Amino acid sequence: MRSQVLLALLPFLRTEAIRIIHANDDGWAELYTRSFHDVLIAAGHDTVLSAPAENKSGTASSDAEPSPRTTACQYNSCPANTNQPIGRNESSPRLNWVNSFPLTSMRYGIDAIAPPFWNGEAPELAVSGPNVGSNVYIQVHFSGTVGAAVFATKDRKVPAIAFSGLSSGNLAWNTTPIPTRSLVYAQVANKLVDAVVNSGKPYLPEDVFLNVNLPKVEGKCTDPNNFKFVLSRINVGLFSDKDVYHCGSDRLPLEAGVALSGDGCFVSVSVGDANDKTTAPKEKQAVVLNKLGGFFTCMP
Ligand SMILES: *[C@@H]1O[C@H](CO)[C@@H](O)[C@H](O)[C@H]1NC(C)=O
Ligand SMILES: *[C@@H]1O[C@H](CO)[C@@H](O)[C@H](O)[C@H]1NC(C)=O
Repeated sequence: MRSQVLLALLPFLRTEAIRIIHANDDGWAELYTRSFHDVLIAAGHDTVLSAPAENKSGTASSDAEPSPRTTACQYNSCPANTNQPIGRNESSPRLNWVNSFPLTSMRYGIDAIAPPFWNGEAPELAVSGPNVGSNVYIQVHFSGTVGAAVFATKDRKVPAIAFSGLSSGNLAWNTTPIPTRSLVYAQVANKLVDAVVNSGKPYLPEDVFLNVNLPKVEGKCTDPNNFKFVLSRINVGLFSDKDVYHCGSDRLPLEAGVALSGDGCFVSVSVGDANDKTTAPKEKQAVVLNKLGGFFTCMP
């Protein structure tokens, strides 16, 4: 009885459900991405996955019209000889593949695949990943995970977050049991989505994306509750202007150092400039800090 009352209250306590477009660069059948999709759906979000038919890691902002696919998709996740440029899981039509690059799958997702689910409306948020492996500093420029997020924010004005997880090792969508790291990344990524959604619209300043790196899932960092979020920067700031003043300094920590800092379970959250994939200027960092202030922790 009591639990029924609690369940009845739940919808009022939880984050508002929004329209989310979801891409990646590791391929539509990669498990980190599928676990995240499942958590977003469980959180009530109206989310649609549109991701490459195969692993397209490291293809940055490449874009090309999808071509008819003749071979099977990654992990045999679609049959050979579909001869279609895009396809979907017919029993789970929110899961879509595009036979091209990560950016192209984000573009098709926003422009063509997702709108029918949303009465023609646009997404309110774009997410990419979690990538299998880090995307820090120089890697950001080659990352298809980042390329897809940057396209969403810069070319379609949809606020975007690129997620990457440092624990690597590729996993097919139907791996059972689902390894802890895939579940933990999905839940921790969703916490940031919640925080951004709860901060209200506009979710992010124009022409920025959040570049998020989740530390390795090991030791005490196997419990999603132990993860803490740290405002960081992408590139070394030797000759850069000051960052927003935070944690007693006008130089934010480097994302690589934050995410690699071991059993502190620190997640780096960098405000990226969608024009050049480096750290956004301090005025834009300040907007994010004002919105998400209480959510961030200072490094010890
Ligand atoms: C995906 O591609 C990247 C870059 O080519 C490679 O490092 C990675 O091992 C690939 N993953 C799989 C499962 O083939
Ligand atoms: C397609 O969806 C069904 C039903 O949800 C699921 O059992 C199957 O594993 C999915 N296959 C792929 C490749 O997504």
